[in-house]
Amino acid sequence: QERTFIMIKPDGVHRGLVADIIKRFEAKGYKLVGIKVLVPSKDLAGKHYAEHEGKPFYPGLVNFLSSGAVVAMVWEGKEVIKTGRTFIGATNPLASAPGTIRGDYGIDVGRNIIHGSDSVDSAQKEIALWFKPAELAEYELISKKWVYE
Ligand code: GTP
Ligand code: MG
Repeated sequence: QERTFIMIKPDGVHRGLVADIIKRFEAKGYKLVGIKVLVPSKDLAGKHYAEHEGKPFYPGLVNFLSSGAVVAMVWEGKEVIKTGRTFIGATNPLASAPGTIRGDYGIDVGRNIIHGSDSVDSAQKEIALWFKPAELAEYELISKKWVYE
């Protein structure tokens, strides 16, 4: 089964959106295999967004991500990477569709509440960056046969 890295950024935590966000993934039928709350170091935040190094918004992005607590999660299930990005919505919340997390709750691109891996490759890298293997739970949901045909 596919896995993705989902992270509620400091704005999402301060705005009390943690439960709402988890509820969407849980209700869809996805399986939570890892979760923790932490204040990321600048080093970790910088590595997470390494693909954007050199862009004008990079320093502010790294400062913002390390400015408070985040909720880091790994979710598992069929096409969860793509579905996660669909749930999240477009990068700019003003362009995100209503019904998406950013579309429902965000305004500015630099305060867009949540991160989700954008490919199988980035999901693998991000899960390895944020979690130790022992922090990921191996188990089967009893609802599995009611979610999947
Ligand atoms: P993530 O899931 O956080 O990676 O967002 P994304 O994949 O939708 O967008 P992308 O990876 O291109 O950019 C990473 C983050 O940088 C975004 O979530 C924004 O918070 C921020 N960002 C991207 N473009 C801009 C920009 O033009 N200005 C500012 N201020 N921030 C930006
Ligand atoms: Mg991205």
